[in-house]
Formats: sequence, C-alpha cells, structure tokens
Amino acid sequence: MCANVYDIVKAEKLTPDVTRLEIAAPHIAKKAMAGQFVMLTVDEHGERIPLTMADFSPENGTITIAALEIGKTTKKLGTLKAGDSLFSLVGPLGLPTELKNHGTVVCVGGGIGLALMYPVVRALKQAGNQMISIIGAKTKDLLIYEDEIEDVSDELHVCTDDGSKGHHGFVSDVLQKLIDDKRDINVVYAVGPIIMMKVIANLTKPYNIHTVVSLNPIMVDGTGMCGSCRVIIDGETKFGCVDGPEFDGHKVDFENLTARNRRYLAEEEVSLRNFKEAG
Ligand code: FAD
Ligand code: FES
Ligand code: MG
Repeated sequence: MCANVYDIVKAEKLTPDVTRLEIAAPHIAKKAMAGQFVMLTVDEHGERIPLTMADFSPENGTITIAALEIGKTTKKLGTLKAGDSLFSLVGPLGLPTELKNHGTVVCVGGGIGLALMYPVVRALKQAGNQMISIIGAKTKDLLIYEDEIEDVSDELHVCTDDGSKGHHGFVSDVLQKLIDDKRDINVVYAVGPIIMMKVIANLTKPYNIHTVVSLNPIMVDGTGMCGSCRVIIDGETKFGCVDGPEFDGHKVDFENLTARNRRYLAEEEVSLRNFKEAG
C-alpha cells in the first residue's frame, strides 16, 4: 500500500445516494473493532461527522466507510474520488460490540444501517453465535451489503417496503414471525433508522429478549468532551460517543434522541441550500 494517510484508495456508489470509500488509515485499521466509528472532516472548512467503519483491513492498512448522502457534509463526501484525501480522520472511537457467544443472535438492519451491521454480524459469527440476519430497504435497488451479510449469516431474510424483493413489509414483521414460530433467540441487535430501532425494542420487550441498538446522536468531538451526543438510558444521561454507541434498547429514551437529532434542522437546511447553490 503506497497511499498516504487519509488518501481515498477506492470510491464507489452503492446506490445513487450511498457512497463507499476505502481510506488509507493504517493506525486506525490495526486497532478497529466491530461497532466502532471514526470522526472525519472532508476539507479544512468542513465540520466533523461520525461514520461507522463498515470494514477494516489491518493487512491493507485501510478502513471502509459507507455514507448516506443526506446533507452538506455527506454530499461533499460523495464527490470524492480515488486519489483525493480527507482533511482529518480520528478513530477508532466508541466501545466495540460486545463479542461473546450468546447462542443465537438475530441482527436486524435497515437502509444505511446495513453497512454498519455487516462487521457486527461477521464478528458475532466469529465469536461462535448462530447468526440470523433480517435486512430491509425501501426497494430492492437500495439493499446494500446483502451478499456480504449473507456470507457471514446462517440464515438471511430480506424485506422491502414495496415487495420488490423478499418479504413485502418491514423487518419487524419477520422478527415477529421468528418469535411466533418459537425460535430460540438469545439476543437481538438492531441498527438503522431511530424509528426502526424503537419498533424492534418495543417488539422484543414483552418477550424479555435482550436487545442492543446502535444509537446515532449528533456528535461534535466524539471523545466525551462536548456533551452534544448525550442520550438518556434508563433515566440517566450517557454520552453516545464514549458510553456507546451501542446501548440496551429497552432502556433508551427514543423520543429524546429523536428530538435532539432535529435540533439543528433549520441550520442544516440553509447549509445544504448554500452548498447546492455554490455548485
Ligand atoms: P446534515 O444536514 O448536517 O444533517 C442531517 C441529519 O444528520 C441531522 O438532522 C442530524 O440528525 C444528523 N447529523 C448531523 N450532523 C451530525 C453529527 N455531527 N453527528 C451525528 N449526526 C449528525 N451515517 C452514515 O451514512 N453512515 C454511517 O456509517 C454512519 N455512522 C454513524 C455512526 C455514529 C456513531 C453516529 C452518531 C452517526 C452515524 N451516521 C452515519 C450519521 C451521520 O453522522 C450523519 O448522517 C451525518 O453527520 C450528516 O451530516 P450532513 O452534514 O451530511 O447532514
Ligand atoms: Fe462530544 Fe460525545 S460527541 S461528548
Ligand atoms: Mg452537517
């Protein structure tokens, strides 16, 4: 590997709105574990944003991220090509996924959450678990990481909102069916939109199935200093960046998280409009 640190080694579009970048970062790649994230800045005028590592290769000295282009920074990230470089990259951050043999684990993911879910399924499989994966997207063309997740799962269920592939409906329908079928499930892991994680946590609670969710509060420093990422867990304040991002889904105050994640909407809209107008 002859790339400089933070150079983009490979850039590709997984869907029209999802960019995957492989980045030279040997110091991060050698320590990275499933469930951890990085904070990156695209250019010297940019903001820091957190992105989960969708993969990491200590051998190649690279990490991989997949970003859904929803605002100014992720859209800017989506313009990068192989040979470009990032202004800054810090990691690995956050606590890794707890890797132990629980027995049977059901991993449930949706949308961009599928990129985040892949290393978790792989690591839990390596830890000896029986892995059942349930993956969903609005339509089949937006299903990402399907082959990768299938390769590391014992069982894969695909769902689409429009019925274009697999089950016509939601990932929660399939999880409910597994529970109704009396499948032996020790742990559920959910990663995706907040509403999806909340639905999954509410679904498993009456059955007392331990459920882990990966939270995405707004982060600024990512190292426990600014307080931006505070979340309420079992009535207590925790910091998503250092106490998480994974938490017990039955203890999360999802309403608080949803409200806090909307607190800069007006500024984000202006920023995106200015970025688009600047071409
Ligand atoms: P903006 O228009 O600025 O914001 C759009 C929305 O994104 C906001 O309303 C807010 O809810 C959220 N957001 C904005 N700024 C931040 C911030 N600094 N930190 C967190 N959320 C923010 N997205 C991916 O596409 N792929 C990932 O792998 C991924 N991993 C994440 C891991 C963690 C631990 C966290 C906390 C978030 C992760 N996200 C991931 C979400 C990602 O950070 C935001 O989508 C991104 O910061 C939006 O930036 P923007 O400027 O493009 O959009
Ligand atoms: Fe600043 Fe977590 S992002 S404390
Ligand atoms: Mg932004």
